[in-house]
Amino acid sequence: MDLFEYQAKDLFAAHGVPVLPGRVASSVVEAEAAAAELGGTVVVKAQVKTGGRGKAGGVKLAATPAEAAEKAGAILGMDIKGHAVARVLVTAASEIVEEYYFSFLLDRTSRTFLAMASVEGGVDIEEVAASKPEALAKVPVDPLEGVDAAKAREIVVAAGFPAEVTDAAAAAVVALWDAFVGEDATLVEVNPLVRDGAGAVIALDGKMTLDSNAAFRHPEHAELADTGAADPLEAKARARDLNYVKLDGQVGVIGNGAGLVMSTLDVVAYAGERHGGVTPANFLDIGGGANAQVMADGLDVILGDPDVVAVFVNVFGGITACDQVATGIVQALELLGDAAGKPLVVRLDGNNVAEGRAILAAAAHPLVTMADTMDGGADTAARLAAKGA
Ligand SMILES: Nc1ncnc2c1ncn2[C@@H]1O[C@H](COP(=O)(O)OP(=O)(O)OP(=O)(O)O)[C@@H](O)[C@H]1O
Ligand SMILES: [Mg+2]
Repeated sequence: MDLFEYQAKDLFAAHGVPVLPGRVASSVVEAEAAAAELGGTVVVKAQVKTGGRGKAGGVKLAATPAEAAEKAGAILGMDIKGHAVARVLVTAASEIVEEYYFSFLLDRTSRTFLAMASVEGGVDIEEVAASKPEALAKVPVDPLEGVDAAKAREIVVAAGFPAEVTDAAAAAVVALWDAFVGEDATLVEVNPLVRDGAGAVIALDGKMTLDSNAAFRHPEHAELADTGAADPLEAKARARDLNYVKLDGQVGVIGNGAGLVMSTLDVVAYAGERHGGVTPANFLDIGGGANAQVMADGLDVILGDPDVVAVFVNVFGGITACDQVATGIVQALELLGDAAGKPLVVRLDGNNVAEGRAILAAAAHPLVTMADTMDGGADTAARLAAKGA
């Protein structure tokens, strides 16, 4: 789960990372009050989960509360790369002497944690990495050893931070590591980490991605979820523990196993090219142990998508054999009754396939068409979707 800047900074602060005071506002009036409360010059910052807010005009200085209200009025409701701005962070302005870049991330390629730091902060770090790779220090972090003062110093020295900020920067880095590990994050990123006029090192921006696999250890993280922004179908699927991603096509897809579902999306997209350009409407992996209830939940989510015209159920029987899956489909259609009003193409293969197909044949549900192969099933589903669209 990606966090908003203000949420990341709250967690930073809880772990001792220096940040400036700020208030979140969702209206001009709130922004003005926040600026008055903070006093002095403030910065009004769009809270959206995408980069490049500054360049898009989503970060503005305001010298007075009235000016903060005016800037908030311009930023609230803005569209930044497809993200509507519903909130701004009103935060104290910093006197910036230098801007640095810092991040900890899970480097899946080298199977370890990585610290990245640069004195070329503030700007697009991807650009620095591409055009001036020597300016971005990359230091692997042993997860068992972690980051103590000495390791933090090694990182900031590798990045060429000036000697007079080494101590303050190293202290911030130790605190960021504490946030990274303590919150079970897969990313903490600060761009810019600044040195101010008084020589203090402060995180002026914050990005954080929490590892959802560790959510059970952090019940307090649940309230960080941005429920307002989630797609309603995705929210419904999540409430039922389904791995569902809404796409914009017409062919609903259900399968078991992420790899099989991914290839099903490809095959449906190819088949769609022969049938008026229909494409997959979603990704939905019902997992290995798909019983009738899971199948019913999955079909319920997919059939509730108004864009879906036909559904392709592509299941490879493994631990859960095809006869159980077939029983699941039949029971799911019974559970859904009239709500299941769209054609279903079912391809079963693998463990107990003959029994599974026999169960579907015996049920002879008017909406169900059986397919022998994945390609054949995708073609039929795409044809039905094109016909009904
Ligand atoms: N509190 C602040 N005081 C003074 N200047 C600030 C403050 N916050 C941000 N800035 C300035 O605005 C620039 C952009 O801010 P920030 O890094 O938060 O947004 P961004 O980089 O555009 O967004 P993103 O990191 O999402 O791409 C900073 O590099 C910094 O120069
Ligand atoms: Mg930034």
